[in-house]
Amino acid sequence: MSISPDYPDTVHYLGLNRPRHIEASAHDIYVEGDIPEEIDGAFFRAVHDPAYVPMRSDDVVLSRDGMVSKIEFKRGRVNCGIRYVHTDRFLAERKAGRSLFGRYRNPYTNDPLADGVDGTVANTTPYYHAGRLFMSKEDGLPYRIDPGTLETIGKWNYGGKLRSETLTAHPKIDPDTGELFLFGYEANGLASPTVSYCVVSAEGELVSEQWFDAPYCALMHDFAITGDHAIFTVYPTKADLARLKEGGPHWIHDQNDHCWIGVMPRYGKVEELVWFRGPVGVHSYHVMNAFTEGTKVHLDQCMAVTNLIPFITQDSGLDIPVDGGLTRWTMDLADPEAGIAEWKIGPFGEMPLIVPADAGKAYDRGWYLTVDPTKITMFQNGPGELLFNCLLRVSLADGSLESYSEGPGLGFNEPVHVPARDPGHGGWLLLMVDRILGEGQVAQEVWILEADAIAKGPVAKVSMPFATCEQVHGTWVPRARLDQHCED
Ligand SMILES: [Fe+2]
Repeated sequence: MSISPDYPDTVHYLGLNRPRHIEASAHDIYVEGDIPEEIDGAFFRAVHDPAYVPMRSDDVVLSRDGMVSKIEFKRGRVNCGIRYVHTDRFLAERKAGRSLFGRYRNPYTNDPLADGVDGTVANTTPYYHAGRLFMSKEDGLPYRIDPGTLETIGKWNYGGKLRSETLTAHPKIDPDTGELFLFGYEANGLASPTVSYCVVSAEGELVSEQWFDAPYCALMHDFAITGDHAIFTVYPTKADLARLKEGGPHWIHDQNDHCWIGVMPRYGKVEELVWFRGPVGVHSYHVMNAFTEGTKVHLDQCMAVTNLIPFITQDSGLDIPVDGGLTRWTMDLADPEAGIAEWKIGPFGEMPLIVPADAGKAYDRGWYLTVDPTKITMFQNGPGELLFNCLLRVSLADGSLESYSEGPGLGFNEPVHVPARDPGHGGWLLLMVDRILGEGQVAQEVWILEADAIAKGPVAKVSMPFATCEQVHGTWVPRARLDQHCED
């Protein structure tokens, strides 16, 4: 029996990754428990869902079209909606009625109809700054989205001022100044080592853009800002133009090369960058936080012994058991030759988050996801096949942990933090949970937990009226900021 449409029979299209093609909205969703009234705003999520059968059977989830999902809370009531981001690529493929892009981030494998069409799919992170909502992916510029209708307004380049061809999906917002800090790798072309570094004012104006060359062209997924510094992370997952021209993979992880951490004054010149050489082969996708203490800069990341994405390690000929942990690296600007000091804070995990008001400052707690091996769920899921089923709260004073896990049959996605009105209350976490019903059959719930008492479990659950594909990253926008939505 054939199944139509004819999607690849791989982890990238099965299970949670079964394409759903749902653009919909719903109101007054069923809620179990009481939603605290102070949870008032919108939980935006990036979801990847391919509009068309891919050109190649080795297509990967990271290449799938971006969708923007909104779950809006108001006085205990919940509405939701989801729509495709109308990227240049999405519109070109819709016009052609089929997929036009070949191997992941390799334009030399595209259909001729894709010539000159921007290939980003804006499927990684929603973020909100200066009254504007964006959907982003690191291989292109962000797309501006109407936060009310979820319609795509268009690609965003700061009124034509921006020179960089790319911007990160992990921008940083200073919680006190409201400034937005961005970087873009491959800033001036495919497989280029050139990196842009940009500062945007609280009002949304591009204030500065500087370029520098990284030690090599690397998959620079995240970065960090402290009150005083910008920190760039270069791990040895590398691009090579000659390999791309031969139709090869964009990324190969070089297990034998060193990583580098670049530190500069955040309002300084790129000529002031100080590079610290780090260990061989390791890789990190996500930063939890960073802060400056005297001449020392502390960087907390979810560290792994190699790149965590299986299709990249397979392309690299690597088969290394997953291991790593939440790790603090400390760089002393007074003694760069001393290298990097390391504190392994917590067990292996990913998708770290903090209270947004703590960004760039010394902080006392954060959260991330890991796997509870006693409740394990094997499921064909995104780049990996193991669902996170455990939420950790880590104390940065001593690395002590609180955890909450459920399963088997459940997968946790990256939470967002919602502050409480009472300054003595630690706020709330909103967490999308995938409940596996069968092959390709999934129900989804948003769980609400007390951020400083996660072991108590959820205080409320929102039963989503339809399931989406897997979430990548999300963001919380409180009502007051939604109401300041910029109309220009
Ligand atoms: Fe990410």
